Formats: sequence, C-alpha cells, structure tokens
Amino acid sequence: MIKFKTEEEKQVVMDCLEENMNEEYRATLQYICHRISALGKNNMIAEAFKSAALDEMAHILYFSDMITKLGGDPNFTDWEVDKSTDLKIMLQKDIQLEEEAIKRYSEQLSKLKQYPGLHSIIEGVLDDEENHQETFTDFMKQIIPEG
Ligand SMILES: [Fe+2]
Ligand SMILES: [Fe+2]
Repeated sequence: MIKFKTEEEKQVVMDCLEENMNEEYRATLQYICHRISALGKNNMIAEAFKSAALDEMAHILYFSDMITKLGGDPNFTDWEVDKSTDLKIMLQKDIQLEEEAIKRYSEQLSKLKQYPGLHSIIEGVLDDEENHQETFTDFMKQIIPEG
C-alpha cells in the first residue's frame, strides 16, 4: 500500500490512475471496433486488434483496482473512439493511440519514482504498449509496400 506524505501527493497519483484507466478503456473499445471491422478484410490484423484489446482490458483493471485500494472511487469519462473501417486508417489511429500511451507512461515513470509498486506496474504496461505499437507498425508496412 502506498503511503502519502500529503493530500497533494495523493491527488497527483489518483489523477494519473484515473487518466490511465479511462485511456485504457478508450483503447479497449477502439480495438474491439477495429477487430470487428477488420475481420474478413485481413484476419491477421483483426486478431492483433483483439489481442491488443485484451491487454488493454487488463490494463484498465490494474489502474481501477489501484484507485479502489487507495480509497478512491473510479470516475468514468466519455471515451472518444475511432470507428474507421479502412485498414490503413485503423492502423494509423491505433499507432497514434499507442504513441500517446508510450509518452504518457514514460512521463509517469519519471514522475512517480517514489512509488516502487506503482512504478513497476507502469513499466509492465509500457512494455505491452511498445509491443502493440511495433505490431501495428509492422502490419502498416505490410499493407503499404515501400517504394
Ligand atoms: Fe494499455
Ligand atoms: Fe496498447
């Protein structure tokens, strides 16, 4: 359990956790939409969207459970989800979402150094996001041949 010195310190952590939970929700829903739209067009890509969605769903609960453990009440925002049905646009939007996640988690790793438990959860999540970004980028290269 995290011990906070001040209420302000606790708020910083709670804000990060809530933002992460909501961003993970958005990613989960977007990738499920994309899984549905990609099926029949490219089943390998559809499967990659599903697999990423399942990772993001696990990420939601890492963060929401931590809010609950710290005595908070997780608040849901509205989630802006891309509903494109074109493979190239879906991959573009998803790579963008992963880049934003990588940036957010990298910043939090330096901001939240004093909380080792939370720090290692974020490291694990960041590792997943880097894998998603790499997978989506590889598919993008396959569907847009170079030269
Ligand atoms: Fe995630
Ligand atoms: Fe991801």
